[in-house]
Amino acid sequence: TEGRRTLIISNRLPYSVRQDGENLSVEPSVGGLATGLASYYQDHNCVWVGWPGADSGTLGEKGMEEVAAMLEERACIPVFLDADEIGAYYDGFCNSTIWPLFHYFHTSSTWENVSWEAYQQVNRAFCEAVVREYRPGDIIWVHDYHLLLLPALLRRELPRATIGFFNHIPFPSYEIFRILPWRREILEGLLGADLIGFHTYDYVRHFTDSVRRILGYQHTSGEILTGNRLVKVDTFPMGIDYTRYSGAVDDPGVREEAARLREKYGGRRVILSFDRLDYTKGIPQRLRAFDLFLQRYPEYRDGVVLIVVAVPSRTAVREYRTLKRQVDRLVGEITGKHGTIDWAPVRYLYDVLPFETLVALYQIADVAFVTSLRDGMNLMAKEFVATKHDGLGVLVLSEMAGAAAELGEAIIVNPFNTEEMVGALKDALTMPENEQVRRNRWMQERLRRYHILHWARDFMQRLKATKTRQRELE
Ligand code: G6P
Repeated sequence: TEGRRTLIISNRLPYSVRQDGENLSVEPSVGGLATGLASYYQDHNCVWVGWPGADSGTLGEKGMEEVAAMLEERACIPVFLDADEIGAYYDGFCNSTIWPLFHYFHTSSTWENVSWEAYQQVNRAFCEAVVREYRPGDIIWVHDYHLLLLPALLRRELPRATIGFFNHIPFPSYEIFRILPWRREILEGLLGADLIGFHTYDYVRHFTDSVRRILGYQHTSGEILTGNRLVKVDTFPMGIDYTRYSGAVDDPGVREEAARLREKYGGRRVILSFDRLDYTKGIPQRLRAFDLFLQRYPEYRDGVVLIVVAVPSRTAVREYRTLKRQVDRLVGEITGKHGTIDWAPVRYLYDVLPFETLVALYQIADVAFVTSLRDGMNLMAKEFVATKHDGLGVLVLSEMAGAAAELGEAIIVNPFNTEEMVGALKDALTMPENEQVRRNRWMQERLRRYHILHWARDFMQRLKATKTRQRELE
């Protein structure tokens, strides 16, 4: 295997362009996919094809060349997008059509033909870039909802190629998916792959159900027979680089930062809220639950602090800007309502955090409050647990996150039920220490075993097995 190359294809490269006046540089990207897969790609024989996150018009020919050279050193190949493509494909079809729909926000989804056109066009551009790079024997691994058409486009050009696809977001129930005007094209696009992976068994079920009802292909034990080809569908709950997060706790920089933060919060209990600023994460609902918690249990006033870290994301899309204003306002309201001269109940920052600070935050947090309304997986919940060396700390986790299927020892909540979330906060803050340790040890054991590298290996093995199975059937 080590001799064979893996071409990883995703919309976002693990490095994004940073423009400081005339100065161009690249920095690590944010988001579950890029950070999660980075450790796999660094240690394996991989080439990563994707968008470096800038508009090609602003970069200009010279800028694009410069970026391509910087990325080449990191085994990345850029697919450049211009402002129109970014608007219609990325902000449009990806993040105003598919993203809301697949997260059950179908009433926020828009159905623009120009976006659909752009989506097809960008998928074709990705196809060209991959075909240019492809050498026989390479394994192609396509990721996420930006590239749902790519597997079939590649299959047409490279009929014998080994193509895997992994979806990082939920696959919705047929009743939601059927709304999509281009539902057939999307399913046919995916079925160009040999293996299609999802985080949970529910997503697999929703997908095979949609394939059966919309395209009429039957399936048995995760095998779909599409006319002449067999396509395998399976569950691969994405893990984290456990050793990286767990090990970082002993890092002198992290230790210092953690000590400093502990000192700063002066013995108060810390509740952590950390996500990209996205409406699927349920941040306003979380804030309202915290508000009600302080109202209901005034004895906690001055004794707790909620740290809200919201990482800027997709700021050109209206829903995200509306959400930003809503969160700003709610934080202000709660601070005004409960705060005192000496104490602010909420610490709020809208920024990207350096890795050391993030791990230090996980470390000092008594409670991680993860209440997504829908979430493909949620790796942050796993990262939090991984840093808890002494076993202390409580994870409150939404049942709507894929991670809930694996982290049953967390306090599981329905994020639409404010009362339940208030109760969960209270339970988390009063949970006996031995109980915290017991729960965390179980989760840690599981997370250590299903390390991100194990996850990737598992996918690769299943992909190869699918190829063998196809040959048997020929
Ligand atoms: C989610 C998606 C990723 C995406 C990330 C960040 O985790 O599954 O594909 O990269 O969000 O979003 P962005 O739009 O900035 O790439």
